[in-house]
Amino acid sequence: MSKHDDHERLIAQLLHHRAAGLQPGDSVVPGILPTAVFHLPGNQSNAPYQYGRFHNPTWETLEYALSLIEGAESIVFPSGMAAIAAILFSCARAGDRILIPADGYYATRALSEQFLKPLGAVVETRPTAKFLEGGFDGYRLVLAETPSNPGLDVCDIAAVARAAKAAGAIFGVDNTTMTALGQRPLALGADFVLCADTKAINGHSDTLMGHVATRDGALMARIKDWRKFSGAIPGPFEAWLVYRGLETLEVRLARMVATAGVVAERLAEHKKVLALRYPGLKSDPAHSIAKQQMSSFGFMISLTLKDAAQAERFIGDCPFIQASTSFGGVRTSAERRFRWGDAVPEGFVRLSVGIEPLEPLWAAMDATLQRLN
Ligand SMILES: Cc1ncc(COP(=O)(O)O)c(C=O)c1O
Repeated sequence: MSKHDDHERLIAQLLHHRAAGLQPGDSVVPGILPTAVFHLPGNQSNAPYQYGRFHNPTWETLEYALSLIEGAESIVFPSGMAAIAAILFSCARAGDRILIPADGYYATRALSEQFLKPLGAVVETRPTAKFLEGGFDGYRLVLAETPSNPGLDVCDIAAVARAAKAAGAIFGVDNTTMTALGQRPLALGADFVLCADTKAINGHSDTLMGHVATRDGALMARIKDWRKFSGAIPGPFEAWLVYRGLETLEVRLARMVATAGVVAERLAEHKKVLALRYPGLKSDPAHSIAKQQMSSFGFMISLTLKDAAQAERFIGDCPFIQASTSFGGVRTSAERRFRWGDAVPEGFVRLSVGIEPLEPLWAAMDATLQRLN
């Protein structure tokens, strides 16, 4: 059986994993359990649930489903940044050097610079496309993001994992732009993977969530303690929403990725588009590594128009583009990343392709581009 068949079996399992535990009359869909307290007489360690900050059955339902697709134990957090904070603050100590992407999600850099650095950690950055250059000697923690948001550069996960681990670093990947269904960093040698489930995993833009997955028991134990003592816990209702979103991730991604591939090809040929990045294009500088380590090329496209005004009109005037930050939702959405301070041209647009049928979406984009002057 190929890896692909294994993967498909996991997705089928995701939809049916509860069946074996059901009694006649049980609801097929998992329930939501909102509670801060559990019945807890006598010796508290005899109880599987003690207090709402320590555990919650609805989180566990989501964590089990995530662990199926990750192939590793998973722990959920109330946002992607809460998952990143859990990694940074549970791994880095005073004097440690940590390496993060120079061109990844800006909040990872902001958190590290503003809060880790003052505690004595040495925070260094490196561009994703050159992540291997310079090696990893002396680093305690190495966090890559590939493809990076928003530039969609890629680094070779297996090569970074080998080099980082040989240097004694803990190495992980922010897999938000791909999810476990598009790229499997743990199978490529990463110690942990994290994901902002706010994006494609939930997919409906109605809640925030994040998770960390790892096969390293000691690291997982520390991250669990971080969540328990920092109190960075998700709400049960939000966990339930993300569980429901996860059930349709594979079909949503299939549509989004297929559409993104065609839209990227057409946009790349468009005379109004000055530059474009999509790892699935043969001409893209990241294509050869992307082909090697990604099982799909994702749903995000970066394109550059002449200036801010053109970019704003493309985003604002196209009836099938939602002007908003974030990505991975069912609606195609876009934003000009310069407005957040990313190191990109003023006319740079990060486009997240949704589940709209291809041709009406393309016709709307093309008509909007034609009207730009
Ligand atoms: C790559 C990446 N990682 C992490 C995050 C943080 O996720 P959240 O907004 O859920 O905190 C984002 C958000 O855009 C992201 O793009």
